Amino acid sequence: LTSGEALLQHHIDEDVLEDTCANIIQDLSAYGLCVLDNFLGQEQGLKVLSEVLEIKGRGDLRDGQLVSTRGKGKEDLKTIRSDQICWVHGKEPECENIGYLIGRVDTLITRANKMVNNGKLKEYNINGRTKAMVACYPGSGTHYVKHVDNPNRDGRCITAIYYLNRNWDVHRSGGLLRIFPEGWREDKVADIEPIFDRLLFFWSDRRNPHEVQPAYDTRYAITLWYFDAVERAEAVRQYDKARTSLENAISTSI
Ligand code: OGA
Ligand code: OGA
Ligand code: MN
Repeated sequence: LTSGEALLQHHIDEDVLEDTCANIIQDLSAYGLCVLDNFLGQEQGLKVLSEVLEIKGRGDLRDGQLVSTRGKGKEDLKTIRSDQICWVHGKEPECENIGYLIGRVDTLITRANKMVNNGKLKEYNINGRTKAMVACYPGSGTHYVKHVDNPNRDGRCITAIYYLNRNWDVHRSGGLLRIFPEGWREDKVADIEPIFDRLLFFWSDRRNPHEVQPAYDTRYAITLWYFDAVERAEAVRQYDKARTSLENAISTSI
């Protein structure tokens, strides 16, 4: 490219980014969720998929964390959540393309957060996120029962999920994500098919209870949770307080 063309391309990319972010803000404000298809494009999406398949092939996936073990046996909890997961930074040499995906999603979120003067996003100041959770539902009816990602103000405000499943047919393979948005009419749900190169955003709090319906083929996704600065700081403070009081209790009991 000559520098003139490069400059033009830069403006086009900037315009696309602005439009995409405006769309995200509008959909989140209106519906509490937003779907973007063909997010990375076929070629780049396939590179992400191949890294996920390698993670799986190395045997690095473990049973998803059990939500609450209080008063329940392990078998009961398997019925809550039967995915297999691992956490990645995206800086690992074997996760270069997952790292690229993370960077692209970060760009959208930080830009959208900056653009907002009105609308729902303005109540948030997003300043961080979790690592990326690579998740596999290995068929055989594996699922995740209806739940809220952040029911108790742990700091997570937006859930971002990138799906990796080519030629996914929900009628044959199940694995639908069903969201029951609070404030929608009683019988209204959002059914999201976990199709290849689809990016989904939704509010992580009680506004969006959701479930993963039983999957009968191997189903892959990568999830990021974005933190609101104030809510996260408060959650960490509470956590530190609880830990300190626990440490005090231990140190005085000997
Ligand atoms: C809710 C809620 C939890 C659940 O509807 O607000 O927190 O598991 N639901 O359905
Ligand atoms: C989760 C979850 C949804 C999906 O991991 O908390 O709800 O579609 N995943 O994979
Ligand atoms: Mn969830």
